[in-house]
Amino acid sequence: MNALIGEEIRKMKKTVKALAAYQAELPVETVKAKYGLQHLARLSANESVYGPSPKVAQAVRAVSDDILGYYPDGQATELREAVAKLNHVDPQHLVFGAGADELIELLTRVVLEPGSNIIIPNPTFGEYAMHAQIEQSTTKKIPVNVDNGHVDFDAILDAIDDKTAMVWIANPNNPTGVFETTSSIKRFLDKLPANITLVVDEAYYDFVDEPDATVAPLVAEYTNLVVLRTLSKAYGLANLRVGYGIMQDPLYSAMQAVRLPYNLSTYQIVGGTAAVLDQEYLQKNVQRFQVERQKFQDFLTKNKFKFYESQANFIWIKVGETKKVGQKLLEQGFQVNDRLNPEWIRIALGTPEDNAELKLAFLKATNK
Ligand SMILES: Cc1ncc(COP(=O)(O)O)c(C=O)c1O
Repeated sequence: MNALIGEEIRKMKKTVKALAAYQAELPVETVKAKYGLQHLARLSANESVYGPSPKVAQAVRAVSDDILGYYPDGQATELREAVAKLNHVDPQHLVFGAGADELIELLTRVVLEPGSNIIIPNPTFGEYAMHAQIEQSTTKKIPVNVDNGHVDFDAILDAIDDKTAMVWIANPNNPTGVFETTSSIKRFLDKLPANITLVVDEAYYDFVDEPDATVAPLVAEYTNLVVLRTLSKAYGLANLRVGYGIMQDPLYSAMQAVRLPYNLSTYQIVGGTAAVLDQEYLQKNVQRFQVERQKFQDFLTKNKFKFYESQANFIWIKVGETKKVGQKLLEQGFQVNDRLNPEWIRIALGTPEDNAELKLAFLKATNK
């Protein structure tokens, strides 16, 4: 009775009522216990199996307990300087957040008015459309090229109307792993009306094996371009929650005004800085992923699977009955993402040992 009255009188955004909570990954120990597994390779969330540089834990441990009672540096100065130097960008073009997720939420909040729309390729990372929905905006989904997974930039331009406020491109894209060249994004930007924000989410940028894979240098030229990065993937720091956006005014000032003043703790700032400074560790792991990616793609080609050429640390593969294949892989100790498409599965690359085992398990699960 009470609940019913509550439903009738409660004031809440209609778009939020329709949302379901994000299905977060189950903890490894829970999955192992459920399936009686000795070893579980978690290849479902595009994390790094190598974890972060040991210098991160050292730096975090070295933080004095005396800081606990005081707010952290709201400008994340140390991290800001390290990231600016690494990317050759102006420190005053950087906004930090608890993962790229927080930047996605904030950008959406800053830019979208109710009734506006965003345009995204399909498939892509689910957060863009979800946050648009929260802000009472709609999403136009433009299918990627079925043969090779590339973004259809012309179709995106055709879909623009006077309510379009943002375009989101994950590059490389999640879940396809497909990479768009800097020149194709620049060509697109030159045709995009300047009052529409283009966000290029470079969460997986570090894994790309082509030079000049980032559009970050273009931020100084285009006021409507935002580049997102995260330390959750190649840096192996998904749990620390550090991401950043590169953008200039007016977006920079608006984002700084809207974000919570102390959104990164000292541990995030200090740990994130240590990670960014250890480029040798990052590059070593990136190379391992690149080698494993090539080996796994060769295996898929040899066994005649359809997949898109990946430049990320995961591969999007057509398997037919995704749920069935996902379940069979799980029973063999491999947790993959079977929740995104009824026919396609997303598998993150593991250690060389796990990947070798995975090939056998994959043939078994797909009856090849
Ligand atoms: C394309 C893309 N952007 C952003 C994120 C969010 O990353 P973070 O852990 O930094 O919030 C992810 C995570 O999977 C992603 O795939």
